[in-house]
Amino acid sequence: MTRILITSAIPYINGIKHLGNLVGSQLPADLFARYHRARGAEVMFICATDEHGTPAELAAAKAGKPVAEFCAEMHEIQSKIAEGFGLSFDYFGRSSSPQNHKLTQHFAGRLNAAGLIEEVSEKQVYSNADGRFLPDRYIEGTCPNCGYEKARGDQCENCTKQLDPTDLIDPRSAISGSTDLEVRETKHLYLRQSALKDQLDAWIDSKTDWPVLTTSIAKKWLHDGDGLQDRGITRDLDWGVPVKDGDKDWPGMEGKVFYVWFDAPIEYIAATKEWADAKGGDWERWWRTDKGAEDVRYIQFMGKDNVPFHTLSFPATIIGSGEPWKLVDYIKSFNYLNYDGGQFSTSQGRGVFQDQALDILPADYWRWWLLSHAPESSDSEFTWEAFQTDVNKDLADVLGNFVSRITKFCRSKFGETVPEAGPQGREETQLIATLERRIRAYEGYMDAMEVRKSAAELRAIWVAGNEYLQSAAPWSMFKEDEARAATQVNLALNLIRLYAVLSAPFIPTASAKMLSAMNTLDTSWPDDVPAALTALPAGHEFTVPDVLFAKISDEDRESWQERFSGTRD
Ligand code: 2FM
Ligand code: ZN
Repeated sequence: MTRILITSAIPYINGIKHLGNLVGSQLPADLFARYHRARGAEVMFICATDEHGTPAELAAAKAGKPVAEFCAEMHEIQSKIAEGFGLSFDYFGRSSSPQNHKLTQHFAGRLNAAGLIEEVSEKQVYSNADGRFLPDRYIEGTCPNCGYEKARGDQCENCTKQLDPTDLIDPRSAISGSTDLEVRETKHLYLRQSALKDQLDAWIDSKTDWPVLTTSIAKKWLHDGDGLQDRGITRDLDWGVPVKDGDKDWPGMEGKVFYVWFDAPIEYIAATKEWADAKGGDWERWWRTDKGAEDVRYIQFMGKDNVPFHTLSFPATIIGSGEPWKLVDYIKSFNYLNYDGGQFSTSQGRGVFQDQALDILPADYWRWWLLSHAPESSDSEFTWEAFQTDVNKDLADVLGNFVSRITKFCRSKFGETVPEAGPQGREETQLIATLERRIRAYEGYMDAMEVRKSAAELRAIWVAGNEYLQSAAPWSMFKEDEARAATQVNLALNLIRLYAVLSAPFIPTASAKMLSAMNTLDTSWPDDVPAALTALPAGHEFTVPDVLFAKISDEDRESWQERFSGTRD
């Protein structure tokens, strides 16, 4: 049996994410997890919350809670939201888990043993009032270049000049506002990525089937400027994975933690161990090529900002460890989804956030629209008008209407049982030929992880059924040839089951409703289309489902447009 490991970029813990975050990783990852399960593969779909780093500490402080408590609560909230969107993770872990602590320290130990870690002494700004070292972006001051008064220690957002904190005029802590700052010497660990540059370069070159978005970003980091740089992998923070050399203390590193981007991708592995520990399974057969994982196809999903860490830093950790860990086979990356003429922004609270989206409409509306507009080849844009138009057309007029029309018609003329099918005519043969062609194309796009093209093909499959019904018109046929009308209705009812199976990766809730209305547990994939269209035999009972998709009215659209036009606190 094919085995597929799927990981979605793990969302930061420090707040509820917007729809752009959803479409850039978790949602397409879920689409393919569901698709491959439906095709009979053994799938392991892993996600987690990314819990370390300064933003988590600051968000906890803002909420007035100890950081561990804040993270535990936010994990629950994110977990419920994921469930609300139908994200079918096999496990939703936490990067703060003991499993991740141990594994992160293990990797650091291996990298150190391989000579790939360097200790570097650095000067860093310490805030006496805050009692901590300040990361560059938590130091504010006046830009020496343009005079902007709120420039950050890493960059001036007004004139975009890259800065060092010591360049700032009148520097102050962005956390407390204190100007009682001093420069102190501190020691950090660097991962010598540059030593692995040729290996990484050859590995990326071997990935000729990867999306250009993925490889071009990797190549840029490998070759632009001075080429691949070594990376600091430790921080002076309290919250995080304590720096250790395997299970031994690391002299000089007391009180320091690993940088969040070092431990976050390791959490993909650790979360699988969390799954094994919680549910009783074998995590190593997914991750260790000496324990069965050489047969696994591993696919990662992420937004483009995450690509450098997944094409270079994490592979450097894996390769540098010298142990037989599974490397990613395919990285599917996404551009950004914009919101109504601007950007979605978590920090500014701009756009529609995941909890708000689920408050106003069921998950399938969002899943369908977001996936069918996934920002694959370029950034894409969410507008309320487009959302209303597309959802009303695709889901209500095409799919919903098909299901409602044929089930109601059958109930009124033949009762709630599938009528007897007689010989098929030219229209049926044509429909089946179209479906065969389109279903194979749909599989091709899904196998290739072409999200938009898959959605377009699925829509065309729905349209084909509608067109058939329109031209066969069993409601007119019934008056002249009842047996022929019965044949048409039999086929159309079987199409509902077929649509439910094909559509489930995109709209799982509606698909489940369709299957339940058709009173069947048969979710087998239509490898053989004519056979799939006889799955519900004559005499099989069904019920007319409630409206699958209500239309979005102009009033709703306007009120949401208004409600989500500003920013969230
Ligand atoms: O962009 C983000 O939300 C990051 N938290 C993604 C981390 S993915 C990984 F490395 F695990
Ligand atoms: Zn400036």
